[in-house]
Amino acid sequence: NVLILDFGSQYTQLIARRVRELNIYCEIHPYNSLPDNVSTFKAVILSGSPSSVRSEEAPHPDLSEIKGKLPLLGVCYGAQYLAHFNGGAVAPSNTREYGRANLSYVKEGEAFFEGIESGSQVWMSHSDTIKVLPENGVKLASTEDVENAAYKIEGEETYAIQFHPEVYHSTDGKLLLENFLVHIAGVKQDWTPYNFVEMTVNDLKEQVGNDKVVLGLSGGVDSSVAAVLLNKAIGENLHCIFVNNGLLRKYEFESVLHQYEGMGLNVKGVDASARFLDALKGVDDPEQKRKIIGRVFIEVFDDEAHKITDAKWLGQGTIYPDVIESISVNGPSATIKSHHNVGGLPDFMKLKVVEPLRMLFKDEVRRVGASLGMNPELLGRHPFPGPGLAIRILGDITPEKVAVLQEVDHIFITNLKNWGLYDKVWQAGAMLLPVNSVGVMGDERTYEKCVALRAVESTDGMTADWVNLPYEFLQKTSNEIINKVKGVNRVVYDISSKPPATIEWE
Ligand code: XMP
Repeated sequence: NVLILDFGSQYTQLIARRVRELNIYCEIHPYNSLPDNVSTFKAVILSGSPSSVRSEEAPHPDLSEIKGKLPLLGVCYGAQYLAHFNGGAVAPSNTREYGRANLSYVKEGEAFFEGIESGSQVWMSHSDTIKVLPENGVKLASTEDVENAAYKIEGEETYAIQFHPEVYHSTDGKLLLENFLVHIAGVKQDWTPYNFVEMTVNDLKEQVGNDKVVLGLSGGVDSSVAAVLLNKAIGENLHCIFVNNGLLRKYEFESVLHQYEGMGLNVKGVDASARFLDALKGVDDPEQKRKIIGRVFIEVFDDEAHKITDAKWLGQGTIYPDVIESISVNGPSATIKSHHNVGGLPDFMKLKVVEPLRMLFKDEVRRVGASLGMNPELLGRHPFPGPGLAIRILGDITPEKVAVLQEVDHIFITNLKNWGLYDKVWQAGAMLLPVNSVGVMGDERTYEKCVALRAVESTDGMTADWVNLPYEFLQKTSNEIINKVKGVNRVVYDISSKPPATIEWE
C-alpha cells in the first residue's frame, strides 16, 4: 500500500489515479490525520498545497514515523516542506513558475530518473522555490528557471520534485512515479480488478456475515457494480430495491429491472411514480424539486426496507471521489447544486453502512464490473441525475410534460446509438423549455414547446464541453422529434461549456 498525504492540492486525486494506473493500491489521507498503521505502508507521497511553507498556517505534520524510515516522495509543496524543515531554504520565486518547462539537467545514473532524459517536459505550478537543499540533499534535476527541480537526501530513500508528475503535461510523470514506487520502494503492481474482487468478496463475507443487506439500485454503474459484488459475497441475503420515481427515461424502469433480474440479483421494483409526481405538483424551483425527490425517495425506500425483516446493513455505491470530497483538507467545496444522493444516511434508517466501492475511481468501477462479467451496455451507460427528468423540465412538472420529454429523449438517445455516437459522448439528454413559439405545420399555425438537446464531453462532470455532433445527425434528429412528438415544434442544440454553464439546465 502507498500512502498519499494530502496538503490540499487540487491535484492530489490525480496522484492517486496515476498510482492506481500502475496497478498499485494507494490511499489519500489528510496531512493532519495520519493513519494509525503508518509503518505498514510501503511508500509515502506528500502532495502539493495552496499554502506556502513560509506562512504561519502552513501544514506541518509530524513525519517522524515516515522520513528516513519509509521511501518518501515530496511533490511541489511536499518538496519544499522536506527542504524548509530540514536545513534547506525556500524563498518566493523571482519569476512566475507556472505551466510548461523542460528539464535542462538530469543527474546520470539515478534509478529515480531511469529512462528520463534532459529535455523531458514537466509541469510547474508554484510561487515559492527551493534556494538551498536540505541537509545531505543532492540535486537530481534542473529546468532553466528552477535550479532545484528535483533532489534526493543521501542516506535515505527520500526524493523530492518541484514539478507535478501526476498531470498529463508532465510527459514522463508516470514513469517517474513508477521508478520511485516500483524500482526504489519495491512496491508490487498487484492492484488489479480481479484481485480487488477476490479481496472485497472475502472482506464482505467477513464484515456482513449472515446479516441481510438492503441496497437501492439506481440503474447507474456504481450501485449496479456494488450490488453484483455484494451478491457474489452474500447471495440471497442481499435485497435490492429499484424505485421508479416516474422521472426516468422511456422504458428505463422495465428494461433495467429486467437486466438486474437477468444478473441474478434479488431485486424488487417499486413503482412510486404517482407519489413523486403528486409531491412535485406545482413546484418550479429546482432546489425545491431536488429536496422533494430526495425526501420522497427516502420515504419510499424506508417503507420498502421495513418490509425486509432483520435487515442490518445499507449497501451503497459510494465511490472514492465522494469519500475524498467529504474528508478533504479544506472540506467539501461550495454547494452549487445539492446532489441528494451524495451525503449521509438519514437518522431514522438505523442501519450500518457497507460501501464496497468506496476506494475506487469511476474507471476502476467499470473495470471491476467488466471483470465480474457485467453487460458492457450497462457499464457504459451515460450518467443520469438522481432527480431525473425533473431537472430537465424547466418550471413545474406534469405527467404530460414528462411524457413529452421521454419521447424526445428517447429519439435523441436512440439516434446517438444508431449513429455510433453514444460512446463518444459522456452525457446526453434533452431539456423541455418553458417556452412556446410559433410554428407552421401543413397550413396550420402552431404554438408549441421548444426542446434543447445537450451532449457533452467530460471526464468527471466537473468541467464539460459541448460535443460537435454532425450537422446531418442534428438535422435528422430534429426532424424526427418535431414530426413524431406532439406538442414540440422547435429543437435547439446547446453549445455552452461548463463552466460557465452547467450540464443540466437546473
Ligand atoms: P451539473 O448540472 O452540475 O451536473 O453540471 C454535473 C453532473 O451531475 C449530475 N447532476 C446530478 N446528479 N443529483 C444527481 O444525482 C442531482 O441533483 C444532480 N444535478 C446534476 C449531472 O447529470 C451531471 O452528470
